[in-house]
Amino acid sequence: MTDITTGLYGNDAQRRLQAVSLASLDAARATPGAVFAARMPGTDDPDRLGWDRIAATLRDQGAITFRMIPADACPEIERRLADIGCEITWWDVFDGPRDAILAACDGHLANPRDDLVPVGPQAVADPGFLEEVQAFMAACGVAPYPAQVLSGQTGPATLAVLADPADGSIAATAFSYFPYNRHSPHHATAWAGLVTVREDMRKRGVGLRVNALALKAAVTQLGAGRVQQYARTRNIASCRMIERCGLRLRPGARSGIAQPAGAQSFTR
Ligand SMILES: CC(C)(COP(=O)(O)OP(=O)(O)OC[C@H]1O[C@@H](n2cnc3c(N)ncnc32)[C@H](O)[C@@H]1OP(=O)(O)O)[C@@H](O)C(=O)NCCC(=O)NCCS
Repeated sequence: MTDITTGLYGNDAQRRLQAVSLASLDAARATPGAVFAARMPGTDDPDRLGWDRIAATLRDQGAITFRMIPADACPEIERRLADIGCEITWWDVFDGPRDAILAACDGHLANPRDDLVPVGPQAVADPGFLEEVQAFMAACGVAPYPAQVLSGQTGPATLAVLADPADGSIAATAFSYFPYNRHSPHHATAWAGLVTVREDMRKRGVGLRVNALALKAAVTQLGAGRVQQYARTRNIASCRMIERCGLRLRPGARSGIAQPAGAQSFTR
């Protein structure tokens, strides 16, 4: 049983959602249509999970994420959500196979354009360091994951962090793990995200490098056959970074976060 008394990060609503997600980890891994999304409950097959359950989650928890929804099914989901006073903001989905990712990422990692230092795996077991990572992500506008997920306690995961050699402070982060369970067609696909770069270091290739570190570890250490990433269409830097790491836009699928209408956007 995962400890949910520590390791959470964010405002009260975000912590509550993280606690719910951690408490239902076993169910998320075992239930057809459920996804272990770490920041909130999730589904990659709403009809299989059941709309009563989705409506109850939205009523009681205030958020649920929809993953890998066929684009032609999105309008019906929007309609059903509107019926219960909720709305969804969608991300574009990118994905790629192991070989394309390795080829692209090895290229970026061979010639780093900065002097940042990768933080070693021992730091990932340090709760104080993980809290710093969460605070860094949040300051960049990205809702963080619980420390239990970032550290791999809830399943195979990889956290890439680049530090400033001047003072050891965090300069960039990226993360990958497996959200889908054995009932999902995406079970061998890792998700990568939580990509953040210190504001004054952006547009110099740091995002490419830290994302490449996480993606390479996803395929070589976690054994992912494919990796997917999400980005808002308007987040041009993120979309470009993802494509430069060997992933391609999949216009046939969308992922998103559903919330009560008018709620504040959950993450970038
Ligand atoms: C997204 C983010 C991680 C990118 O990091 P970065 O270090 O600035 O990105 P890079 O310098 O490695 O650039 C990656 C690519 O995006 C392009 N790019 C970067 N910023 C851009 C911008 N503002 N507009 C257009 N293109 C941009 C770069 O030119 C590069 O493409 P190229 O190699 O073909 O020239 C960074 O902007 C960030 O931390 N944003 C806030 C958090 C966020 O949105 N995270 C993603 C959540 S999905």
